[in-house]
Amino acid sequence: MASNYDNSAWFYDRLSRVIYGDALVKAQIYLLQFIKPNSSILIAGGGTGWILEELTKRYSSGLQITYVEISANMMALSRKRKWGYNQVTFINAPVEDVTIDRKFDVVFTPFLFDNFREDTLQQVFGHLHRLLKSDGTWLNTDFRLTGKWWQNVLLRSMFLFFRILCRIETSVLPDINKRFKEHRYEVMAEKAFFGDFILSTALQKTV
Ligand SMILES: C[S@@+](CC[C@H](N)C(=O)[O-])C[C@H]1O[C@@H](n2cnc3c(N)ncnc32)[C@H](O)[C@@H]1O
Repeated sequence: MASNYDNSAWFYDRLSRVIYGDALVKAQIYLLQFIKPNSSILIAGGGTGWILEELTKRYSSGLQITYVEISANMMALSRKRKWGYNQVTFINAPVEDVTIDRKFDVVFTPFLFDNFREDTLQQVFGHLHRLLKSDGTWLNTDFRLTGKWWQNVLLRSMFLFFRILCRIETSVLPDINKRFKEHRYEVMAEKAFFGDFILSTALQKTV
């Protein structure tokens, strides 16, 4: 069964701020500088949708945003956000099941892939890769392990918590970097947050 953040929608943002302070927010805001005016953007797993308001602070119009979220409760919160004169299309479905008849300038995956087993990651990644234009930009932010003991403790606790509450399918971090390398993405810029535990990367599609 696919993971679903419905049960955590009402407290997700508060909980993440208690644990990580503003690190998850900063990690995503850092990536917005790589979005050009008038871009078409596919956001997969946007959560409560606060990112729409941050995007709007940067560009109050001209963006065409397709916002895909599997959780109906997360989606309901996202629909209440402000997005100025940008155009937003909301799709409440697993992103891998969404057929879209266009390609995007930007794909944005904020803390999406840590939910998945390797096989799901491969499937979702392939789908998003096909939806990105040949010279498009992929903005990804997620957790990573750099050998510090507390990272493992935090990660295991998160997996346990979200496994019980949201039925996430994995209990180990999938190898996200490997997928980008396999598909020959070039890293344009990256920045670590929260003592290296979070990595935000802007990548360019090359093939
Ligand atoms: C860890 S949360 C991150 C939320 C948000 N990006 C943030 O940082 O606040 C992962 C989000 O991805 C959504 N999600 C999980 N699997 C998905 C899928 N296959 N398609 C679309 N959204 C998905 C969940 O419902 C959840 O809102």
